[in-house]
Amino acid sequence: MIDQIRVNLYRNSYTIYIGKKLLDQKSLFTLVFKKKNNLIITNSTIKDIIFKKKNDSLFKIITKIPYYIIPDGESYKNLCEVEKVISFLLKRSYGRDLNLIALGGGVIGDITGFIASIYQRGVSFFQIPTTLLSQVDASIGGKTGVNHILGKNMIGSFWQPNGVLIDLDFLSTLPKSHIISGMAEVIKYAIIFDYKFFCWLEKNILQVLNLQEKELLYCIKKCCKLKSMVIEKDEKETSLRMFLNLGHSFAHAIETYSGYGSWLHGSAVSVGIVMAAQLSFYLNILSKSELLRIIKIFDSSGLPIFGPKNMLPDDYLELMLRDKKVLNKVIRLILPISIGQVKVFPSIDKDFLFNFIKIYQKKIYFFGLR
Ligand code: GLY
Repeated sequence: MIDQIRVNLYRNSYTIYIGKKLLDQKSLFTLVFKKKNNLIITNSTIKDIIFKKKNDSLFKIITKIPYYIIPDGESYKNLCEVEKVISFLLKRSYGRDLNLIALGGGVIGDITGFIASIYQRGVSFFQIPTTLLSQVDASIGGKTGVNHILGKNMIGSFWQPNGVLIDLDFLSTLPKSHIISGMAEVIKYAIIFDYKFFCWLEKNILQVLNLQEKELLYCIKKCCKLKSMVIEKDEKETSLRMFLNLGHSFAHAIETYSGYGSWLHGSAVSVGIVMAAQLSFYLNILSKSELLRIIKIFDSSGLPIFGPKNMLPDDYLELMLRDKKVLNKVIRLILPISIGQVKVFPSIDKDFLFNFIKIYQKKIYFFGLR
């Protein structure tokens, strides 16, 4: 069975297909791959996995359709790799009828989408996300881009894919740490929008982490539906979409500080959301019981709740001041006000934030949880 979720964006509308062995379906195959000028962009790890499964349909596809390999990891999501891909395309005389296929996780999706948005002023692309994190979040909504040494995702564009193909079979090829990392974005959706989903996760998180099909499918569909609702209302992040950045100002600071790739994105998001929840509690907004439930769900999924030991409050502040949400040097943060509801706090005082981070790092707000 194939589930479909439509993302309605007028001329840029597309469908998210969710199921198993999706490329075995002729209609989906012809939707993803045009008659000619397709190029798959993937990474070395995924290519190796596909080449081991000689009977798999993806193996047959990759032996017939040209592909380009980017080395695996966040540290390759940069302009240098973009330029290499563009040189490859130009040398082979790809024109504006090029169709790029992003086969990989968030890094591959972001970089491929970005290239699609700038190559000869824009070509089509399709997302085939292979990690939980990209299946529930990154592949949907057309955010594309690369990192700059001074800040994560600082170079980019909005460019919607022609469609998203979510095949659950990919997840069984992932190391457990990547499934756990993806859970951080799943939990994020529940905290922002859906108290009932949060309660459901509290009961079913282990089944999802163990990739039990019924629970996994429910979880992925739920996140895709929530994300498409957000994108339809606010494609370019002027209002509602900002909520999806819950915890991301702290998280991006951690990733930039540690060097891209040393922290999995989901791990940094977990710490970021816990810090946002702590801050909300510190401001007397979030209740103690809800704070504890938020900390517990990340902790019990195997996600970290503290950032790098050596990262000082000054390091957080310096990097957070470079965040895309900062306007006129004023820090804006999304904070949970209860489970299932968040709010934009448009002007967080820098000294206040500095003191909060100092206290948070001393771990005095954890009420003996650990
Ligand atoms: N990953 C958050 C967004 O797409 O807006």
